[in-house]
Amino acid sequence: MLAVEIIEKKRDGKKLTREEIAFFVDGVVRGAIPDYQAAAWCMAVYFRGLDEEETVQLTEAMVATGKTIDLSSLARPTVDKHSTGGVGDKTTLVVAPILAAMGAAVAKMSGRGLGHTGGTLDKLESIPGLRTDLTPTEFVAQVDRIGLAVAGQTAEMVPADGILYALRDVTGTVPSIPLIAASIMAKKIAAGAANLVLDVKYGSGALLPDPAQGRRLAVLMRRIGTAHGRRVSTFLTGMEEPLGQAVGNALEVKEALAALRGQGPPDLLTLALTLAAEGAFLAGLVKTREEGRRRAERAVASGTALEKFRRMIEAQGGEGAVVDRPDLLPRAKATTLVLAPRAGYLVRMDAAAIGRIAMRLGAGREKKGDPIDHGAGIVLLAKLGARLDPGMPLAELHTNRLAEIEQAMKEFQAALVLAEEPLPKPSLFLPVEEEEA
Ligand code: URA
Repeated sequence: MLAVEIIEKKRDGKKLTREEIAFFVDGVVRGAIPDYQAAAWCMAVYFRGLDEEETVQLTEAMVATGKTIDLSSLARPTVDKHSTGGVGDKTTLVVAPILAAMGAAVAKMSGRGLGHTGGTLDKLESIPGLRTDLTPTEFVAQVDRIGLAVAGQTAEMVPADGILYALRDVTGTVPSIPLIAASIMAKKIAAGAANLVLDVKYGSGALLPDPAQGRRLAVLMRRIGTAHGRRVSTFLTGMEEPLGQAVGNALEVKEALAALRGQGPPDLLTLALTLAAEGAFLAGLVKTREEGRRRAERAVASGTALEKFRRMIEAQGGEGAVVDRPDLLPRAKATTLVLAPRAGYLVRMDAAAIGRIAMRLGAGREKKGDPIDHGAGIVLLAKLGARLDPGMPLAELHTNRLAEIEQAMKEFQAALVLAEEPLPKPSLFLPVEEEEA
């Protein structure tokens, strides 16, 4: 078999066999297939797609490149949560400790920033000293000991995802339903949790803006999970504006810490409590979602969720004191306000553009392997529906790249639409219906 033939076959819209997919994925991981061929294949898949059977085979081939984790020895029910990613989406940092405080064993394998969206691992690594490259043994031992671990794929766990994810990020091949489904589900299957809560994002700040595409992705991931014996709940949630106020790694950790104290922005708290309640319900920790919601609220109000987060940070080598002193997180040198150019209601935000501005300020990667400036980012001071007067603050830009500030300010203003009349706010939750075959 030749890699180029597999690329050509997909380029021409033909269906790949299980053997071809496995050969390709394995070759990428062994280094026998170079990055440029892997990137070309991702682009062929982006344009031609994979059907459900090929997507399942890709998922399984990716899982097979590394170890899988067996969590069956744990006494607590195992839960994992994953989002398809969106601008300002720091929900995992809030949901995972809440679920752990409710008695779940949260074994979560996360990703890095993709495209204009941030990644949980990059956010967590803004905490001084924190490691996300846990070995499978460390991962299981930590979940067993404190009920919570958030790790990245490594050379041992789903290495195929690490390689393909980084290539997709810089080759315009992120927004592909089969590639997203396989990337997420390979990590979920390898990480071993029995119960999965999947949060598929739609809207301008999501990888797939169109809710119909989000629905297809949600249904596909649920089918893959169910076929692998997992209990899966899917949500379709809004990203027509960034989630919460903070966009950028340390800024988002700070906001997540506020949410764990019950003081976070209402959209973030609502989403986090809903997902935590669902995870607890799936895992059988509560009898109803309503009870789950009450217990999740109690885990926040009592401080037990925050305490779980501290324990996780310390277990992964990080500075636990950031929980009480978020000022220990990295900060950018310059903070600049962007002001409203005129009066009006804020009716639309190009959340993807806001994500790209945050990248320009240093919060994301332009090329594979680029370092991240953990202190850089944006804090939104106005959200959709706000009534603004000229000169009112719209956002704070945080950066060490002083030369970028002026352009970033212009781009930020251009990313917003002000109107005479308010518009209804887009829904935070949309239903995920099973599509007719
Ligand atoms: N999250 C992932 O883990 N993978 C993707 O491809 C997209 C979001």
